[in-house]
Amino acid sequence: MKVIDLGAYGEEFNADPHPVYTKLRAEGPAHLVRTPEGGEVWLIVGHEEGRAALADPRLSKDWRSNGDWEYGALPASANMLETDPPQHTRLRKLVAREFTPRRIEALRPRVQEITDRLLDTMLAAPGRTADLVDSLAFPLPMTVICELLGVPDLDQDAFRVLSNAAVAPAVDDGKNTAVREMGEYLIGLIEDKRSTRPGDDLLSALIRTRDEDGDQLSPDELIGMAFLLLVAGHETTVNLISNGIRVLLDHPDQLAALRADVDGLIDGAVEEILRYEGPVETATYRFAREELRIGDVCIAAGMPVLVSLASAGRDPQRHPDPDRFDIRRAPQGHLAFGHGIHFCLGAPLARMEGRIAIRTLLERAPDLQRASGESELDWLPGLLIRGVRHLPVRW
Ligand code: HEM
Repeated sequence: MKVIDLGAYGEEFNADPHPVYTKLRAEGPAHLVRTPEGGEVWLIVGHEEGRAALADPRLSKDWRSNGDWEYGALPASANMLETDPPQHTRLRKLVAREFTPRRIEALRPRVQEITDRLLDTMLAAPGRTADLVDSLAFPLPMTVICELLGVPDLDQDAFRVLSNAAVAPAVDDGKNTAVREMGEYLIGLIEDKRSTRPGDDLLSALIRTRDEDGDQLSPDELIGMAFLLLVAGHETTVNLISNGIRVLLDHPDQLAALRADVDGLIDGAVEEILRYEGPVETATYRFAREELRIGDVCIAAGMPVLVSLASAGRDPQRHPDPDRFDIRRAPQGHLAFGHGIHFCLGAPLARMEGRIAIRTLLERAPDLQRASGESELDWLPGLLIRGVRHLPVRW
């Protein structure tokens, strides 16, 4: 079986993986690849096959059930994204109860307020230039998720280093140092809330659930839940905002249309950004519990499988003329938030933050422009997250 070495495409693949995905899709829906980090995995590139795989119970999310997978037991991995039913059902139910659409909708005024405050600072910058990631895309979701969870006075820079490293390790030190450090931070915080400072926040609610209800989160599960919500809840949203602004600035006709009718088009624009340049490039690892067939390939039991959500979003079988960015397209059924039982729990929050951030920025900076060329962008490494570390803009 031919193994396609994605690492051999180098920085070009990182900056724009789509030509490679287009070629792979034309050859078949699933391919054995070597990832830039060096592992051999099956990569699913077709929309239909990817959608089916995301909901296929023969593909497990629980690496503990796979003897070949060396990861080391970390409390942070006792989370719903790394478990199968019935454990997944249980964990998701416990948090979904606290993560209702009503609770999310109640955050709207606060999300707007944080956005306004961040833009007050950014737009007052001397020289009328700023890094959009530092000024808005990073601090907005970070502040929102920390307030929601009740993570006080978190050192934003330290958190950024940790969470960046957790999702896009520059060098794999084999020990998951960032994950371990974040686990330790959360253990301290949870102990503090449990013993002295319970609050009205999500983390305190999850601790109470553990203390009072029949069903309980174990201490490891509590850390895993907090870790998952912190990382999943912000690394992704950062890149929805920055990818969205980058793509809009690169398509002036679409930007002008959006500015002309922001009420009517903002929701569709965010969906099209998710399809065309969504922040999650591949879904998280799955493992074949048994031998299975996808298209004309046979995946052996125990093999890891990745679904390329970025490729699925550009599959012409699903989205005609897929490389055209069109905010009026209404891309029904894109896979940017996944599919099946692991469908993103935070999708309503992410959509709300994306819409508010992009809309408010465009309204307050009517002449916003890119302040650097394509070649100067620093792309996040790895297959998981698609985005740039910095996005210089001027107005
Ligand atoms: C634009 C922003 C976001 C995107 C594109 C996104 C995308 C995704 C995707 C693709 C998955 C499924 C992964 C898989 O099946 O392998 C997922 C799961 C998840 N997401 Fe998000 N996410 C975003 C924001 C958020 C936010 C804001 C939160 C929480 C505050 C969140 C919490 C979660 C959780 C808890 C799961 C695991 C669900 C489960 O296993 O049942 N996400 N997300």
